[in-house]
Amino acid sequence: MSTRIATRPERVRPRRLRRTRAIRDLAAETHVTPAHCVMPHFVSGGLRGETEVPSLPGIAQLGVEDLVRQVAEEIELGIRSVLLFGHAREPADKTSDGRAAWDADGPVPVALRRLKAEFGDDVVVIADVCLCAYTDHGHCGIFEDGAVKNDLSLGPLARTALAYADAGADVVAPSDMMDGRVAAIRDGLDAAGHEEVLLLSYAVKYASAYYGPFRDAADSAPASGDRQGYQMDPRNVREALREAALDEREGADMLMVKPALAYLDVIRAVRESTRLPLFAYNVSGEYAAVKAAAANGWLDEARIVRENLTAMRRAGADRIITYHAREAAQRGWL
Ligand code: PBG
Ligand code: ZN
Repeated sequence: MSTRIATRPERVRPRRLRRTRAIRDLAAETHVTPAHCVMPHFVSGGLRGETEVPSLPGIAQLGVEDLVRQVAEEIELGIRSVLLFGHAREPADKTSDGRAAWDADGPVPVALRRLKAEFGDDVVVIADVCLCAYTDHGHCGIFEDGAVKNDLSLGPLARTALAYADAGADVVAPSDMMDGRVAAIRDGLDAAGHEEVLLLSYAVKYASAYYGPFRDAADSAPASGDRQGYQMDPRNVREALREAALDEREGADMLMVKPALAYLDVIRAVRESTRLPLFAYNVSGEYAAVKAAAANGWLDEARIVRENLTAMRRAGADRIITYHAREAAQRGWL
């Protein structure tokens, strides 16, 4: 009798699926492995030398040979993709148009050529494309009369992406948030014969306080004002779908939501709106907060990292860009 079934709750026992570790693994819906992670790296101009970034414990600006050594270890650990950020070698290299960004002898092109010579197609090298680390005003585009000029910024961004493609980048990843930059970069790459270079768009990038430590590492904080005129308002999610759809139409191959933890609902919404591979960026401030709490003994770092990365995957991210990647793989946290 159906009423009798309904009144016997002890017949239905979700806890059976939780009894042993092996059973829990059998029933697990979400997985995070090193292959799901992309490791970010900051490259400096020199050959050797690691400069620690105080607000990003465990992360350093690397000379190109130190970078090669670390990437070799990461490939060994199963992390087969890295994201490169450069910064101006000297404050004097910064200009109003950020031209050091597309200098073929700048830190990023040098690192790209070296990594490709060393590892070939065993690693996917992604180059962040932006101007903020190379402009004297610190904004992500061309800044004139107190404003960031959208259309004037597209040429320099496309040139930067082209310089990185010429140097061997597998993927270029524009993070500037100018309108139309995906189309401008795609056209520039195609015109130069780089039809096969992939474009990962920071399509959904919020104006977030979680980028603070990154700006220390890349020396890329705006000298005046903030980025709210071009990065997205954290109060919006419909706008995220609009940005994602636009970038897909302009030819992006892969999309990103950034930051991750405070935006899990956005990851889910974007996941359901596109068929493109979706990346979540577990940004510098999210990493620094975990590191600080762990250093104080207030949180169990291994378990927190696993829980956070699992949440991003469960929300719908196919891949996660995270500063935890290397250490988490090394120490068996995943
Ligand atoms: C540059 C850029 C930023 C990040 C990635 N690319 C900083 C910013 O937009 O201010 C943030 C990454 C992080 O915080 O880890 N446009
Ligand atoms: Zn920028």
